[in-house]
Order: sequence, then structure tokens, then C-alpha cells
Amino acid sequence: MTDSITIHPAHGIAGSIVLPGDKSISHRYAMLAGIAEGTSHFENYSPGADCASTLKCLEALGVRCERSLNSVSIHGLGPQLKAPAEALDCGNSGSTVRMLSGILAGQQFTTQLFGDDSLSRRPMGRVIQPLSQMGAQITSSDGGLLPLTISGAKLRALHYRAPIASAQVKTCLLFAGLFADGETSVEESTGTRDHGEIALRAFGAHVIQDGARASVQGHQKLHGLEADIPGDLSSASFFLCAAALFPGSRIEIRKLLMNPTRARLLDVLIGMGVRISVTELEEKHGELIGSVAVEGGGLEGGVIQGADTTALIDEIPVLAAIAPYTSRGVEIRDARELRVKESDRIATIASNLRAMGAQIEEREDGLLIAGEQRLHGTELDSFGDHRIAMAFAVAALRAGGTSMIKGADAAVISFPGFFNLLESVAQR
Ligand code: S3P
Repeated sequence: MTDSITIHPAHGIAGSIVLPGDKSISHRYAMLAGIAEGTSHFENYSPGADCASTLKCLEALGVRCERSLNSVSIHGLGPQLKAPAEALDCGNSGSTVRMLSGILAGQQFTTQLFGDDSLSRRPMGRVIQPLSQMGAQITSSDGGLLPLTISGAKLRALHYRAPIASAQVKTCLLFAGLFADGETSVEESTGTRDHGEIALRAFGAHVIQDGARASVQGHQKLHGLEADIPGDLSSASFFLCAAALFPGSRIEIRKLLMNPTRARLLDVLIGMGVRISVTELEEKHGELIGSVAVEGGGLEGGVIQGADTTALIDEIPVLAAIAPYTSRGVEIRDARELRVKESDRIATIASNLRAMGAQIEEREDGLLIAGEQRLHGTELDSFGDHRIAMAFAVAALRAGGTSMIKGADAAVISFPGFFNLLESVAQR
């Protein structure tokens, strides 16, 4: 990923937009459609490269997927997929490898999975360990890195207390639970996004939620689903934060995912003094959808920690990128997981903020970013990470002078049209 993009400062943000489908939901719907009986159809399926990786893997497993512009039809094979002829390429997508592993653990064949350089550095022990306890045979490189070789088995049910807060792991194990005898459950000490549980129900499975524990019975039948996937809330964060930066700005995002386990950014921005309204709320297939409008100005800053950090984990790059423009600064705590994302996000955020002239303190599990800073435009780097590319495009809108982001095309991982859409709402 080498393409660069130039971002000129703006003086405001205005518009009303609809965003491509949510990445977390697209992955889950596609995987469950693959093991459901019958055909599923999704409108507004995420156009990002990550969700294309999931479809490519499903196709290699014998599932017919017909894509047209923003929609996909998936012809489910039922629980048993076909042995792939080659190793599965998961590209840059942690969701693909971790969640699909849960399904592969219950198959009657062996699958190899690999990914790009970034994915090859990310920890897979978090799924290998519990899936092995369920009876799958998994080998990995260097004690927990890709490539993985998964030999499926008749799985044993597992009651798992998750040591790390990860929705990918929770979803992986609930998917694996479909192939086990008896009830499989995952208990979390910090709640994570619940799209896996909601998607399972939408495909006809019975999922029990009991406080912090989600459980499924094995061998449940899934049926196909027709759904319009709501706009991606993490992609929305770039536009919400961009609008928040400029007094007098207003942006509206329609048909947006409003799942409460994903919408903590709205609470945090409100807590920082931003005016936000949510209208037209409705529920579809268990997911909440609505229109959000943000009016810019009054960005005060604050501390993000504990359960907020977990709930906001994908939105921290953009919150950190706008932090120097807040009046009180932003402190991010309990964010060690950021170090094992598509890049070491604590290091890559710190590097770009410093390049723009910001005073910051980088900590093992977070960042301290002072407010009331003036940043200058400069050469920035995506470090091959989609969210870093997009976060710093937002920061660059309020910098003094022009910025250039190296490797900006990393944005295709979740949001191919991002830069054009940002340009279309930026006022100059
Ligand atoms: C995701 C969960 C989070 C998030 C990722 C998508 C999901 O990862 O960072 O972008 O769809 O379940 P973890 O499960 O590693 O926390």
C-alpha cells in the first residue's frame, strides 16, 4: 500500500451522508449465511477488502457468493462446508481468521489459513487455546501466529471465561458452539460488541444472554437471511469527529448502526461538549439503526478508560488524532490491545501526532495528549493501517498547512470511498 493523498485544511464540515455497511455485521452475516440452509441476500454489504477476504474464504470452502456493486447473495451449504483446495488467504482481516476458525474447528477436514504481514504479527493464541480445549487440532507458527492449520473435529462444549475482552473471540467460540454437543458459553468481565449473538438469532439460532454470559446449544439449524446492513458506526466516527472539530459544522449520517455496544463514541463526544441528536430509531434483525446529527464546537476532552476503552477500541485512533484540538486534552488508559491491532496503534498515533508538532506522552497502555495545541501539516504515514490513514486525514483538516498521508490507500480495508466522501463534506 503505497499511494499517498494530500489533505488541505478545511474550515468546516457540512452534509448528509449514508455510509457503507458495517464491517463487523457483514463478516458475521456472511459466515453464518455460508453454514445456513438456503440462500441469504445482503444489501449494503461492506465494500472493504476485509469483508471481501471473508467472501473469498467462503468461496474456497465451496460456498457460492454472488456479488454485485453493494450487495451479495450467499448460497449456504449447511453446517458442513467443502475441503478447500488451497490455504485460505485472510488478507489483513483479523475478524476473518478469528471468527472463521470457530466454524473450521467443527469441519471434517483440515484447513490452512494465512494473511498479510500485519495479520501475521497478530496474536491468534486467544482463539487457538479455547478451540483446542473444545477438541480441534490447531498448529500455528511461533506459538500463536499465522499460518494456522486447523483440523476440525467433533467438538466438546466449553464454558469459557474470556481472559481478554474480544468480540472476535466470543463470536468464534459461539460459532464453534454450533458444532459441539451441549451448551457452549462465553463469559466476559468487560462486555464487548454483541453482533455475534444478534446475528445468530437473526439466522434462527437460540442464544441465551445471562448477564455477562452468552451461550448457544450445539447442532441448531440456521436459515438464510435477507437484510439491509446498516452503515458502519466505526466509519462514521471519522465524520462525527471531523464535524466536532469546527464550530458551526453540522453533519447528519442516516441509516447508521446504533447498537448500544458500539455507540459509546456518541456518549464520549457528548461528554466532551459536542451536541448530538439521534432520530428515526428502528430495529432490524435485532440491530438498532438510526440517524445521527452532530453539531461542531465545544470540544472539551476528557479521560477514556476501562469499559469505555474496550467499547471504543476502533474509535480511539480518531479520538486521539483530534485530541490536541480539544480544550482540556485527552487521556487514554487501559488500551494495551491497541498495540496488537492492524498496526501498533499507540506507537503509530504517537508518531503521526509528533510529526504534526503535538506534545504527547506515549504509555505502555495508552496516551496522554494535551489540549489547546496548534498542529502543522506535514508528511504522515498510515503504517498500512486503515484507521490510522483515516484518523489522520481528519486531524489534517484542522492543521496549519497541507498534509500528505503515505499509504493512504490502506483505507480500502474498511472504507474504499473514504477520501472522496470526506472531500465532499469538507468546506474550504
Ligand atoms: C471486532 C472486534 C474488535 C475490533 C475489530 C472488530 C469484531 O476486535 O477491534 O475491529 O467485529 O468483533 P477484538 O475482538 O480483537 O477486540
